[in-house]
Amino acid sequence: MSAPLRILVTKRVFPEAVEFLRRQGFEVDYNGTDRVLDREELIRRARGCAAVVSQLTDRLSAEVIAELEGARIIANVAVGYDNIDVAAATARSIAVTNTPGVLTETTADFAFALLMAAARRVVEAHAFVHSGRWSTWIIDLLAGQDIHGATLGIFGLGRIGAAVARRGRGFGMRILYCDGRAAPPELERELDARRVSREELLRESDFVSLHVPLTPATRHLIGAAELAMMKPTAILINTARGPVVDEAALAEALEKRTIWAAGLDVFEQEPEVHAKLLELPNVVLAPHIASASFATRRRMSMMAAENAAAALGGQRPPNLLNPEVWR
Ligand code: DGY
Repeated sequence: MSAPLRILVTKRVFPEAVEFLRRQGFEVDYNGTDRVLDREELIRRARGCAAVVSQLTDRLSAEVIAELEGARIIANVAVGYDNIDVAAATARSIAVTNTPGVLTETTADFAFALLMAAARRVVEAHAFVHSGRWSTWIIDLLAGQDIHGATLGIFGLGRIGAAVARRGRGFGMRILYCDGRAAPPELERELDARRVSREELLRESDFVSLHVPLTPATRHLIGAAELAMMKPTAILINTARGPVVDEAALAEALEKRTIWAAGLDVFEQEPEVHAKLLELPNVVLAPHIASASFATRRRMSMMAAENAAAALGGQRPPNLLNPEVWR
């Protein structure tokens, strides 16, 4: 009998994913902690494994991938995969998969939660009541921006962008979007969405929500010049990837009130946050949790395990990102 195939699960996932892999007969090297394996440990433990179930905190660079002898698949527990050098994996015939679809609605819920919290100053209001400073009803106490009837500008009208736009429609918002590709006409009709230039979106929108993947083309998509085009009452929401926004430029714009507020779930150097952002009252901060409902994170864990098991069983993994390796 041949030895079971080995799988490295780099970090803690929902337990059913590991149980599933073990039930399939794989030998699982499971780092059941929240500690990120450093480069050396990742390479050492991944060496000889047929699959690596990774997370967005694992840097699978070309150099690391070059060491993954015997690997057939990297199954990322995330829809984003900017932590993996997919070209390097493809060059070594290693499949790469992600977890699209299952987190769409949960992420959109959270983007909208940030939007509402920033517009209506929910975090400031909570702190205010806690501080004991509430003495009477005041005409403009913690006044914010209206959401209903406002213009929502979406960068990237993919699955999550469209789900956020749908929520905006529920609030009677006007939808503008900016995307390299026009959305299907039926989606534009459903959302009553108009495709506009980057500049028009920035100048017209009361809320700008980012839903693009991180690529060289989207790095610092929102920098000082773009922030300067936005309305002084505008609110920026980022649940995509931190480096899509120039964090220093954003902190300055928020401090100078060139824009009114921001809601951020992602940062350029996670878990670090630009010092100024930590001090400003007009920004709502979250630690990369937009997809963090129990059901969704459980489903993401399972999806990655299923992708790994499929590939090792000789089947095309359902969420394959580099089909070139599967012929
Ligand atoms: C992703 O999946 O890419 C998110 O950032 C984490 O859910």
